[in-house]
Amino acid sequence: GDASGASVRRLADWDAEDLRALAAEFGTPLYVDDLARVRQNYARLAGAFPDAEVLFAVKANAGRHVLRTLAAAGAGAECASAGELARALDAGFDPADVHYTAVNPPAEDLDYACRIAAEHPALTVTAGARDTVERLAERGFAGRFCLRVHPGVGAGHSESVSTGKDAKFGVPAADATAVLADAAERGFDVVGLHAHAGSGITNDQIEEHEAVVSTLADVARETDLALEFVDVGGGFGVPYREDEDALDLERVAARTRAALDGVDATLTVEPGRYLVADAGVLLTEVNTVKRVGDTTIAGADAGMTTLVRPAMYGSYHPIRSLVAEERATENVSVVGPVCESTDVLGEDRDLPAPERGDLLAVGNAGAYGVEMASQYNSRPRPAVVALDGDDAEVVRRRETLADVTLAEDTASDPYP
Ligand code: LLP
Repeated sequence: GDASGASVRRLADWDAEDLRALAAEFGTPLYVDDLARVRQNYARLAGAFPDAEVLFAVKANAGRHVLRTLAAAGAGAECASAGELARALDAGFDPADVHYTAVNPPAEDLDYACRIAAEHPALTVTAGARDTVERLAERGFAGRFCLRVHPGVGAGHSESVSTGKDAKFGVPAADATAVLADAAERGFDVVGLHAHAGSGITNDQIEEHEAVVSTLADVARETDLALEFVDVGGGFGVPYREDEDALDLERVAARTRAALDGVDATLTVEPGRYLVADAGVLLTEVNTVKRVGDTTIAGADAGMTTLVRPAMYGSYHPIRSLVAEERATENVSVVGPVCESTDVLGEDRDLPAPERGDLLAVGNAGAYGVEMASQYNSRPRPAVVALDGDDAEVVRRRETLADVTLAEDTASDPYP
């Protein structure tokens, strides 16, 4: 294990023998989340932003083990749905440290959030549309309110995760003071401003992040409402490629502070990936090997239903063979068991010549891994094991074929 809390944990840093033992005990595919690493990531992030409030973006990994760990470490929670809100409260986050960020919220989500806000007046609700403000008012909402601004600048690892520009999120910065005033007139307790540039910000996108913060700072100076906090979103990237550098957090923090100069409000940040990505690996077993021209195709038991990021965004995840013996390397494509040609975990990898029964580890699976897993092809989702020191515990059981038809089998009972 890595006790140092270094800013990057590479896939190579995981102990192969430990991972083989986990696969042998719990089967594959298997998500492994190391809670000690989650704590280290939180401590480093919170250390870089010493007087900020840190909210974990639950969407990155909503597992109860992760939420409990971060709640105990002192984090708050940013929730994007009624389900995430329910999970955050269930995991023990103090409602005062919980934000619900409504995005075109279905009526049931708003009903639920308003009920929770009435029960727990310390909860903060963030909205990014006039319609959402009206729909909150229709429900008698009078709680803590934060406005999401569309900053007009985006960032992130790909166009598909840029939220700050030409995307559906937030009200245009030019309308922000008017919407804030309207919310206050309706009796909302206006406490904050919010924006999120995108997900996976790297060292060469710190400017974009800073521009987003500057836009928020402008709105904060413009409004005559006293704000408690300015929430600059998440998006702090982690290296996925073996040779990529860690994000310079100190620099991000310094630029964030500089952009907020003169704004009398607490800073809030919402990291998701940064806290959990390198705390997780996905273990998968090779069951089929084909040699096609210069490429070897390794068919594994995990694929796009287990980790969709490569298929969905073309994302790179490191892949490592956990075989103990020495073998010559080959050019390998690792593919999954789904009937789709995009069902690829990695292409063009230099890996020890694969053989049936080999165990592979896929890195950075702790963020947006199990959260984005699906049952496509009627494939049950894998188990999750939480590591904590010498402890390994199944925190989410492997689904079975019965889980695949559960919603149909219980269709006549809406609350099985
Ligand atoms: N706050 C808000 C309002 C967000 O929309 C997001 C991410 C976050 C915080 C956390 O972002 P993070 O720190 O994890 O980058 N499925 C994609 C990522 C989409 C994230 C959407 N919003 C992926 O696998 O890369």
